[in-house]
Amino acid sequence: MASKVFKLIAEEAHRQKYGLEMIPSENYVSENVLKALGSILTNKYSEGFPGRRYYGGNEVIDKIENYAVELAKKLFKVPAAFVQAYSGSPANQAVTMAVCEPGDVVMGLSLSSGGHLTHGAKLSFSSLFYKAVNYSVGEDWKIDFDELEELAKKHKPKLIWAGTTAYPFKLDYKKFKKIADEVGATLVADCSHITGLIIGGVHQSPVPYVDIIMTTTHKTLRGPRGAIILVTERGLKKDPEIKSKIERAIIPGLQGGPHNHQTAAIAVSLEEALKPSFKKYAVQVAENAKILAKELGTVSETHLVLLSLTKYGYGLGYQAQYALEEAGITVNKNTIPGEPASPFYPSGIRLGTPALTTRGMKEKDMVKVAGWIKRVLEEIKGLDLPKEQDKRKDFLKEVKVKLAKNKNLKTIKAEIERFAGKFPVPGIR
Ligand SMILES: Cc1ncc(COP(=O)(O)O)c(C=O)c1O
Repeated sequence: MASKVFKLIAEEAHRQKYGLEMIPSENYVSENVLKALGSILTNKYSEGFPGRRYYGGNEVIDKIENYAVELAKKLFKVPAAFVQAYSGSPANQAVTMAVCEPGDVVMGLSLSSGGHLTHGAKLSFSSLFYKAVNYSVGEDWKIDFDELEELAKKHKPKLIWAGTTAYPFKLDYKKFKKIADEVGATLVADCSHITGLIIGGVHQSPVPYVDIIMTTTHKTLRGPRGAIILVTERGLKKDPEIKSKIERAIIPGLQGGPHNHQTAAIAVSLEEALKPSFKKYAVQVAENAKILAKELGTVSETHLVLLSLTKYGYGLGYQAQYALEEAGITVNKNTIPGEPASPFYPSGIRLGTPALTTRGMKEKDMVKVAGWIKRVLEEIKGLDLPKEQDKRKDFLKEVKVKLAKNKNLKTIKAEIERFAGKFPVPGIR
């Protein structure tokens, strides 16, 4: 008898094909990436690194990992790459362990300004075991480099993160470098969200400016879930031991056996990213985001749109996420800079174009998508978050039930299903 899981996978495939996936950190991988991920490589244990394994039988696995490393070095034009980290968060932990001693100061963009948990957020390892100092964005929603410099001079960080998770502008690595050099910090670019855009030439490469780069492989890069750590020439000069420190942080520091099926799938996605067609894809991702942002009344220089909902009412992030989901559009609620409501009940949503662009959608399609989004957002008017904190949970439960019955949302969902169903998704018939 077939596993119950396959029925559920078919259910999820339907959702992925007939809806609009607009979470900016998501994408659709190719059939070849899926094939490598589902391969027999998952059967093998291979703790250690190529040529230095604790187990026998790793001749082929060594070739696969070496191949992935070579492709990563070629794609990013750096002298060293590591592909074993299970995902972005453990990769950032490995980088932090390689650069810092417990208790050292690390600096990153605050969560509420669009930074990532692993860059020094409360409750993350990065603030539990290290002294985290956060910089933020100014009123223009852009990184406040004056504040960053002041904080860096005061706290003398060992590591500065230059990377974002909900930030619609390009990053100025030169400015980061100047400050890192002033205080002697190791500068690490976390390009997880924008790697595809860097490869496509839409964003500048951080390679000349930073010491280390971390990128997840499953966002704009369009590979399997995973991560790559890269060391630049500058990084090797700064610390000639950095390669062995990163290896030691991965194993025995944090991990055991690498996920070889994942390493192979990363290699497949790197092969794909080296093709000219990937550049075209990345350029289209950014063009689509620009049009989407414009239609929604804001701007984007990246693959994502951070949309404030304050013109529709107070604290509407959850309500918007629920309403859009009812209509077949998947996004996530997000705080906006200077959040007027609450970090737990934020006032914005974050939308992205990488997945829709993989399906072949272009500018004219983004205009349609923005039209549906605007129609959905009309439906949350009047559903403002209660000012009394103790009423919020129950209120949102009621809102969810109410939105599930909303006829206008059902009409929009039917329109979206007809539209989305025409665009192919790799691996879904
Ligand atoms: C900038 C950044 N770094 C790291 C990560 C963590 O990656 P993962 O979810 O694979 O642990 C993310 C994920 O959203 C991210 O946006």
